[in-house]
Amino acid sequence: MNLKDKTVVVTGGNRGIGKAIALAFAQQGAAVAICGTNETTLKETSAEVERVGAAKSLGHKVDVSKEDQVEAFTKSVLEAFGKVDILVNNAGITKDNLLLRMSEQDWEDVLNINLKSAFLMTKHFVKPMMKARRGRIINITSVSGVKGNAGQANYAASKAGLIGLTKTTAREFASRGITCNAIAPGFIQTDMTSALGEKALAEVTTQIPLGFLGETSDIANTVLFFASDEARYITGQVICVDGGMVI
Ligand SMILES: NC(=O)c1ccc[n+]([C@@H]2O[C@H](COP(=O)([O-])OP(=O)(O)OC[C@H]3O[C@@H](n4cnc5c(N)ncnc54)[C@H](O)[C@@H]3O)[C@@H](O)[C@H]2O)c1
Repeated sequence: MNLKDKTVVVTGGNRGIGKAIALAFAQQGAAVAICGTNETTLKETSAEVERVGAAKSLGHKVDVSKEDQVEAFTKSVLEAFGKVDILVNNAGITKDNLLLRMSEQDWEDVLNINLKSAFLMTKHFVKPMMKARRGRIINITSVSGVKGNAGQANYAASKAGLIGLTKTTAREFASRGITCNAIAPGFIQTDMTSALGEKALAEVTTQIPLGFLGETSDIANTVLFFASDEARYITGQVICVDGGMVI
């Protein structure tokens, strides 16, 4: 896979899965722009991205659910890098509760940050891809969006919505040489899953046929493949990287 001259944008690239994705592209020599909500980790990760081999790096504080901020970020990336080849919509949050106890605010927050954000990022970053007549958009969904999950009505709905957005984006931009695919992680070791606590994690592991939690590199490697020329004939697909949870 040759990703050396590519320019990539990763939302939520400052930590967890997004950070692993940013570092994986950096190790290939790509130019990497990340955004997130925490200025300190954005600075730290941008520096690390550059240290491991990125051609260029950029880290901006952006709320990806706000169109004016997404638009300003698009401009900054284009000014700094001149083009965008790959967009990874990774930023996401959980606000879990049983449906009957879920507040309207928790529903809206999760839908805005997990789903509206990908719509806004795609809308703005696809324009330079259309001009170039090539591009790759990769959305990080979840097995919860594929099979539903009790206690995650807002999260599962946002991630299922992301699958619909992926398929529609694939159809709308295929004629411009742009592909769009989704990756549905199962349980991956990050801050998001360690918040579950030891007892819940042990219970979760019993539902994974391969018998262990995934690592952030399992997702990053799949993203690299979808971003590469080798994946040129794949679009509108959802791949579960989940140790066999969805079979
Ligand atoms: N960890 C898992 O097991 C798992 C499983 C399935 C799907 N996922 C998905 O993978 C993605 C990354 O998960 P993670 O485990 O690394 O989570 P994380 O909590 O470690 O990271 C989430 C990232 O999103 C960013 N973010 C949150 N709100 C934002 C906003 N308004 N604007 C911009 N950035 C924002 C944060 O800055 C952070 O970098 C998420 O979309 C998550 O739903 C994770």
